[in-house]
Formats: sequence, structure tokens, C-alpha cells
Amino acid sequence: MRSIREPVPSLGSLDRVTIQDGILRLQGWVFSLKNQPINSFQVFCQGEPLSNWVEMAANLPRPDIHQAFPTIPAAANARFRIFIPVSHQQQEQLRDNLITVIPLIAGEPGCTLCNVLEPKLPLPDAEMVEAIGGGFAGVAFQFLAQFIQRVGLEPTDTVLDIGCGVGRLAYALSYYLKPPGFYHGFDIMPHLIQWATNHITPHFPHIQFHHAHIYNQLYNPTATTTALDYQFPYADASFDLVCLTSVFTHMRGAEIRHYLNEIHRILKPGGRCLCTSFLLNPEAERGISNGSSSQALIYPWEDGFTANPEMPEQAVGFPEDLFLDWITTRKFSILGKYYGTWSGRRDFTVAHQDMLVIEKN
Ligand SMILES: C[S@@+](CC[C@H](N)C(=O)[O-])C[C@H]1O[C@@H](n2cnc3c(N)ncnc32)[C@H](O)[C@@H]1O
Repeated sequence: MRSIREPVPSLGSLDRVTIQDGILRLQGWVFSLKNQPINSFQVFCQGEPLSNWVEMAANLPRPDIHQAFPTIPAAANARFRIFIPVSHQQQEQLRDNLITVIPLIAGEPGCTLCNVLEPKLPLPDAEMVEAIGGGFAGVAFQFLAQFIQRVGLEPTDTVLDIGCGVGRLAYALSYYLKPPGFYHGFDIMPHLIQWATNHITPHFPHIQFHHAHIYNQLYNPTATTTALDYQFPYADASFDLVCLTSVFTHMRGAEIRHYLNEIHRILKPGGRCLCTSFLLNPEAERGISNGSSSQALIYPWEDGFTANPEMPEQAVGFPEDLFLDWITTRKFSILGKYYGTWSGRRDFTVAHQDMLVIEKN
């Protein structure tokens, strides 16, 4: 794990990476949350800079992004394109490899944008993507950028992805992690684990998946073992990073506390955990009462609140102070707390759910 250098607050995506007529074409959107213009970009493939661009244009109109982020004026002009001539030999090296683009804002790095040129990994079908809440490669690369910039993940680190679903995070991490670095993901839905095992591991043997037959009313209602009884099948101090994206938002408080104990056990000293959640605080409560929140977390459910009393696991949030207390009493330090857009708040720094980066003391 490397030390963390916070990017200039910004959001974006490298939507398209293509090669046409010997030109590498990188296109997407990015905007500064403080409404500063994008000055320039740095482009890398496998860590090597690609600097001989022939066209680099930013701050161009992008109405759909403005519609998605109406409170940020800079979002209206978020489109960018970068064209770089590449030799035939370079084209071969670029294919199926991770390309990263770093926007420069007032000369400082903004959020890293990642994608892969002609990836060999297939995409799961729409039904499986729906089962994990929708969105696939774009979400995967946005989280990879968070792991690199806000967690300090190195390519040779070891990663555990709890509630990995169909391997969305693995899709992007496959291109970043290199042996002796490895990835293990476990989930409670067998058909998702089967798909990831069949379609990702054969291409990247250091990316592995495991099914855990644990009860969850929404995701695995036939299991009899509860999350409270589940001991993670990993040795103490074996991982640099543990991640849970949109998993604590579907679990009971007691289960989360047990998982935090297990995460502490299997993390190396100084290891880090990135998790997303719905944190209930005065700003989120305001969004819920005035209808600007995407989640009406109004029904008490044990020590949290749910949007659906018939199926509480559909969306669960917890009072922020309580959630942070569970973390700090288990000997974790909080390295970063980033509010998302879910509650309708204007001062967000990440898309959708709130995100925490914590470190084992
Ligand atoms: C919204 S999906 C997110 C999947 C994945 N983290 C991603 O971002 O692509 C929630 C996932 O959490 C899993 N899950 C729910 N309860 C779990 C538990 N107790 N242990 C492990 N996974 C769990 C579900 O099976 C489901 O795949």
C-alpha cells in the first residue's frame, strides 16, 4: 500500500477507448466539483506515459452529464477527447491492457479515469448485471480509480472482495493486479460466482471466486447459515485491501459488526478497507424528508433504517455516528469519508453511495 494523495475533487469516466487509422482515441467526460476548468491530461498504458498527442480537447458540452449532476455548472461542459498516434507495434501492446487518463486541474491531478482497449474479458448478461444493481464496466473502473487514488492499492497487493457478486470489481482489478498480487471474491449467490469463475479466472488465474452459502432474505433466502456464524475462510493478516461495494447496504447491523471483526482479523497490519454505505446524518435526513434522496430510509429496522419493511435488505442505512463507532471501537482508523449523491446532498465527492476508507491500526 502506498501513501494516499487526494485527487482534486472531480468526477468522470473514460467511456470509449478505440484505435482507428493508427490513432488511439480516448473519449469520455470529467468535471471539477469546484467548477474549475480541466487544463490538460496525462495518459498512461501499463504505467508508461503516452505523451505525443495530436489533439487534446476538454470542457466541451455534454448535456447528459449536466442532467445527471444539475447542481454542478462544470458538468455541462464535461466532454473530452484525446487523440494519440500509435505505431503498429504500440497498438499490439495497448490491446487488452489498462489505460489510465489523469485530468489536470489547476496543474494538480484530478480523479483517475481507466478503461481497457479491446478487453478479452466478456461481460455478464443483463439479468446478472441487474442482480447486482445495474452498471458494469464503468462502475468497475470508477472503483479501480478509488482503490488506486484513495486507498493506495499497488499492483502486487492482495485483495478480498466481500459480496463480489458477478465479479464487477474483479473485471477492472484483473487488469491492474499482477502476481504475486491476487484477488479473492466471495458471494452468497451461486450462479454469479459460477459465471465469474468460468469467465474471469481462466484468463487471470490470480483472480479467484468462492461461494458462501449464507442467508439473506433478498439474495439467498434458502440458506440456513447466517452471516453471524460465518468465519471467513482466510488466514489472519493475509490481505492488503478488503472491499465491500453496496454490501453493507443490504445487511443487518449485527452482521456488519461481525464482518468488521473478521475484516480486522484477515487484514495485514496497516491494511485498508473500502466500504460503501448509506450514512444517516442531518443532511441525509433532510434529503429523505424533502424527497430529494433516492432512498426513503424511513422504517426502523433493528439499529438501522430501511426503505422497505417487507424486504428490509433491499436498502439499509445506519446513523453515521453509530456506524463510525462500530469501526473505531474495532481498532480501525478512518482515513477518508466521502459522501455520495444518494441522499440528494450537494457537497458530494463520489457517485451514489457514501464511501469510507479505513485502516487497521
Ligand atoms: C448490490 S450487490 C453488489 C455486488 C458487488 N459488490 C458489486 O459492487 O458489483 C450486493 C451483493 O452483496 C451480496 N451479499 C449480501 N449479503 C452478503 C453477505 N452476508 N456476505 C457476502 N455477500 C453478501 C449479494 O449476494 C450481492 O451480490
